[in-house]
Amino acid sequence: MRKFVSDRAVRLVVRCLANRYGVDVSKYKEDFLRRRIYARMVALRVRNTWEYLRILEMRPEEMERLLDSMSINVSRFFRDPAIWDKVKEIVLLPMIKEKLKFHGMLRIWSAGCSCGEEPYTIAILVKEILDALKARLLVRIYATDVDVDALRRAELGIYPAYELVNVRKDLLLRYFYTTASREYAIRNEIKRMVIFKVHDLLKEPPLDNMDVVFCRNVLIYFNKLAQAMVIRKFMRALRRGGYLVLGATESLSSEFLDYFEVVDLRGRIYRLRGLPDHCSLLLSTLASLSSRSEGEPRSRLHH
Ligand SMILES: C[S@@+](CC[C@H](N)C(=O)[O-])C[C@H]1O[C@@H](n2cnc3c(N)ncnc32)[C@H](O)[C@@H]1O
Repeated sequence: MRKFVSDRAVRLVVRCLANRYGVDVSKYKEDFLRRRIYARMVALRVRNTWEYLRILEMRPEEMERLLDSMSINVSRFFRDPAIWDKVKEIVLLPMIKEKLKFHGMLRIWSAGCSCGEEPYTIAILVKEILDALKARLLVRIYATDVDVDALRRAELGIYPAYELVNVRKDLLLRYFYTTASREYAIRNEIKRMVIFKVHDLLKEPPLDNMDVVFCRNVLIYFNKLAQAMVIRKFMRALRRGGYLVLGATESLSSEFLDYFEVVDLRGRIYRLRGLPDHCSLLLSTLASLSSRSEGEPRSRLHH
């Protein structure tokens, strides 16, 4: 691939996007940028990177196409099914039981949520657990992404059948209905649990006081420095004793292992070291009570 798009060409594209359009993509991995640039060159039938750079400089619409191609929105309900069983048993079930005991609110962040498949999967699991326990609990699942179009699709909550291949038949019947165009729409009882919000992990401060942060198949696009910066944001976002769940191909680098306990290596489940469970839960209950009285935003798609 370097043969077609050299290191220098990648740097020139990064500089062009920054100088001409004020867009900073310097924190994305160089190889990832190279593949995206090459894909755009093939789409435009452009022979070399100089020609592509000229087009990029002259046409703002090409800048938009290139940026669109960089936010890869591939996702699935119950992506990597085996991991979700672990998330349910090791993370959500004990957390929900503790919350019920202390009358707390469960706060979950799905960062880089794409078109909503991941946060809705989490909401389905939480609902299943609560129904099995015959319990009610205040639950907020914050789902964020940098891609506004993906979030619009997420709010709509309508999916083609292939995105649901991993969904068990009984869950499909319970939480989805088919539309006139033979797609699947998520039911309102699940939709209501999720709040979508535009958020750039590389630029904006983290959400706070989270019990669990999911960030799966997002960090792979960032370079090492940016990955570390985002993990530090998650440390600020999590309450002590909260869980971080990464994607199957991602893991915490050694510099963070003093702060996190590895709960399940294959499931990429980590726990922020901290106070004993009952103290941190009491603190998080107090914090969620105060954020409720301050009137937490309820609207969808805020910036
Ligand atoms: C492959 S999808 C992952 C979706 C889901 N988490 C999953 O595992 O199926 C990657 C998502 O990360 C989002 N993303 C990329 N850069 C981001 C950033 N700087 N801030 C927030 N989200 C970002 C993309 O828009 C895309 O929706």
